[in-house]
Amino acid sequence: MPVLHWNGKHLPSPNPASLRLDSVIYPGGTGYPNHSPCNHLYLGDNLAIMAALLPEYEGQIALIYADPPFFTNRKYPARIGRGEDSRKPAEWQLAEGYADHWPSLDDYLQFLYERLALMYRLLAPPGTLYLHLDWHADAYARLILDELFGPERLLNEIIWVYHGPSAIRSAFNRKHDTILAYTKSEEYTFDADAIRIPYDPTTVKTFASSPKAGFGKIPNLERGKVPEDWWYFPVVARLHRERTGYPTQKPEALLERIILASSRPGDLVADFFCGSGTTPLVAARYGRRFLAADATFRAIHTTRTRLVRENAPTFGIWSEQAAGEGKNPPFNFQISGHQIHLIGNPQPIYWELDPHWDGSTFRSYAQATLPPRAGELPRVLPLPHQSGDICLRAVTAEGIPYQTVLPGKL
Ligand SMILES: C[S@@+](CC[C@H](N)C(=O)[O-])C[C@H]1O[C@@H](n2cnc3c(N)ncnc32)[C@H](O)[C@@H]1O
Repeated sequence: MPVLHWNGKHLPSPNPASLRLDSVIYPGGTGYPNHSPCNHLYLGDNLAIMAALLPEYEGQIALIYADPPFFTNRKYPARIGRGEDSRKPAEWQLAEGYADHWPSLDDYLQFLYERLALMYRLLAPPGTLYLHLDWHADAYARLILDELFGPERLLNEIIWVYHGPSAIRSAFNRKHDTILAYTKSEEYTFDADAIRIPYDPTTVKTFASSPKAGFGKIPNLERGKVPEDWWYFPVVARLHRERTGYPTQKPEALLERIILASSRPGDLVADFFCGSGTTPLVAARYGRRFLAADATFRAIHTTRTRLVRENAPTFGIWSEQAAGEGKNPPFNFQISGHQIHLIGNPQPIYWELDPHWDGSTFRSYAQATLPPRAGELPRVLPLPHQSGDICLRAVTAEGIPYQTVLPGKL
């Protein structure tokens, strides 16, 4: 079997992160304070995080979707303005997103290899890994996955096609990504009925006029067909409803198809490069449990906001450092009756409260998020009938977290 080599290729024994439970989020207060989360977000390098998850999750995850940096050697800023003209990039308000910069291809391949090897260990025997890349590195990744899973475990090479503007004039416009799907074993989850799509109208017409067109097999036209291995979904830039401003965000429809095909309700779905959180969002929507990680606070914050807006089940946020710790906020809070008010400027884009702060894990009883396109951030949040020390956390558009504590029994 051909095997890919590069300078420095090795599989080190992974050094686990020492994770602490920074917060538990109860979207809309549901389940507060007794539900213990079975969904988790992790802030940090996914290599150390996956290593830390091995004792509990080795062989437990039904589906892993991985959308790592593609080896483009570019920087991807996040868009933090609202209501901007998409055709005028010079006017966009930008902040740091993530970098896809590598000293060499060797470094990139080593980065992928170590992480894919851990994903393989975390997958359950009937599990599937979907690795999303493009022309920059998909050919190398295919050989790495052949080595880790075995070439016979390639389920599909999926081509996601899309369209959009491009500056290229000396080649065909590069408008597809490649998603390599590998199963851990011969017996794997694939729910064909969950992802059927309508037959093309020309196919329906052909069978209506000539039932023999299918070489003796008449398809169940009502039931629809299993999609081909090439998929068209518009990119998120065109989907105003979904856009978070996080760079290289993937469409929900893409994750829907993957999650519905390769997991069942109640299964554990993971994404260790979660970015804006498309995978945990869609997983929660379809009753799957999720684990998701990212190296940047902006990604974890964007994911948290989407999950709160979705009214997702309780989830925990883990990190190596205290993610919510920050200086005292440049805005104030005031209690009146069973409500708390946010006062003054500048405004955050998110705030939340823990009405019984224990000085360690933040239990988020109520949250306010800035509506995505227009409208104001809610400036009032409810308090429970009884509260102790009230901890308030907020995040600004620049992605800076703040925390303050109002002592109880005022
Ligand atoms: C292509 S984006 C993922 C986009 C995501 N699928 C979405 O729909 O928004 C890749 C992400 O990987 C993250 N990342 C890169 N290296 C990482 C690492 N070592 N550990 C954890 N996350 C990492 C980046 O911060 C970035 O958010």
